[in-house]
Amino acid sequence: MTLTHDIRFLGTMAKPLARAARVGAVASVRGRWRPYRSWTGAEITDYDPFDPRTAAQPHEAYRGLHAGGRVHYNPNRNIWILSRLADVKAGARAADTLYSGDGVTRARVALPLLVTTDGKRHNEMRRHVLPAFTKAALESWRPMIDELAAKLVGEVLDAPGCDVVQRLTIPMPMLLIAHMLGVPDGDLNEFRRWSEATVQATEVELSRRGIMSLTSSITGIRDIHRYFRNQFAVGGLKGSDTILGKLLDENAGGSISDDELFFFAFLLLLAGNETTTNLLGGMFDMFARRPETFDMIRANHDLIPMAVEELLRFYSPVQGLYRTARTDYQVGDVTIPAGARVLLCIGAANRDPQVFDDPDEFRVDRNPTEHMAFGFGAHLCLGAQLTRMEARAVLRELATRVDRIEVIGQPRWSTNSTLRGPVEMTAKLFAAAAIK
Ligand code: HEM
Repeated sequence: MTLTHDIRFLGTMAKPLARAARVGAVASVRGRWRPYRSWTGAEITDYDPFDPRTAAQPHEAYRGLHAGGRVHYNPNRNIWILSRLADVKAGARAADTLYSGDGVTRARVALPLLVTTDGKRHNEMRRHVLPAFTKAALESWRPMIDELAAKLVGEVLDAPGCDVVQRLTIPMPMLLIAHMLGVPDGDLNEFRRWSEATVQATEVELSRRGIMSLTSSITGIRDIHRYFRNQFAVGGLKGSDTILGKLLDENAGGSISDDELFFFAFLLLLAGNETTTNLLGGMFDMFARRPETFDMIRANHDLIPMAVEELLRFYSPVQGLYRTARTDYQVGDVTIPAGARVLLCIGAANRDPQVFDDPDEFRVDRNPTEHMAFGFGAHLCLGAQLTRMEARAVLRELATRVDRIEVIGQPRWSTNSTLRGPVEMTAKLFAAAAIK
């Protein structure tokens, strides 16, 4: 499919997508789930990741899954759920059988993105973009990350009672990615609006509101496409200090097309923004609720990297990813049938009591190296180091300049089943005595 086809396809897909999802779910529940139960061995569950209340606070449900069998099946949603760390990792590693091409979030939106491409083509695409993620390439963004963290923490300090999500956790990754992609300062507001609309495409609700938001996502994608098409037409990317410029320089043979560049830029927006926003939101939530832990970090900055890993495990900014079974897939005594939609529940895996002692407890020095917040296997997150640089920079600024973090009232959590984090959080930072 060419890019033009893809964009046209996006414009026409909202209604059929909703209809297909509705018809598909009903047909498979009526026609198939009774026989499944008799031979697959999976445990039937009413755990529903799409219930907004469960999505906002899923941990009790995860404890229920861990107390049961290795595979659960929700007949109403027609999904098969893996929740133990070893099984979720094995599922992510079994990319030949559990494939990503039908989309990795709730919506079965198959765009030609790295994350929804499988097999040989995925290896090729990943090889093309790797030069932008080498240690040296990522290091070059460090001064900008440090500068952004210092500026944004300063702004929150100066605005007691502000919404820290709007002031810091959204702008931090958004401004970084915009700079990485070479978006000029004058275009940043528009760029932010498009990016926010784009992320909504990951969660298609079968409701009037859901379809409206899908339509606005599609408009956002179209606007971003138009924007980059103009940038490519003007030229000047090659040799520039942007991530796209770096990729073009590495591919002197011209093996990366404009289409691929666009979809890569688009993936960075989709994969790198809300995920990091969620992690940073978790950081504020945790250290406001646990001032004594924040004091430990203030007293010993060497704890910062470990604290960030524990935040990744504890909050799991990506709660789950979907795969489709190409053939029957065996987990212990259970056979997940070919064609099944399988949820790799990362949020539950990161709180697996068989792996993490007292998993619902945040331990700043736990150093949970086995967590899989960034996925596992062929699609392991390319932005993991970048995220760590961002989160560590923000925490360092907080630990240096702030005595205490206060969250006023109850933060509001997202109800998106894939991406979980605070969407509104009124906060007040108390400046450290030494620098008041
Ligand atoms: C807290 C922050 C982040 C989290 C929790 C996160 C999580 C993940 C996860 C779980 C995957 C695996 C998807 C799958 O297996 O289907 C993934 C893939 C990916 N992530 Fe991240 N991510 C984060 C930040 C970023 C950032 C900042 C970038 C880039 C700027 C990025 C770029 C990517 C890309 C390109 C992929 C696709 C890799 C592939 O398919 O080969 N991510 N991420």
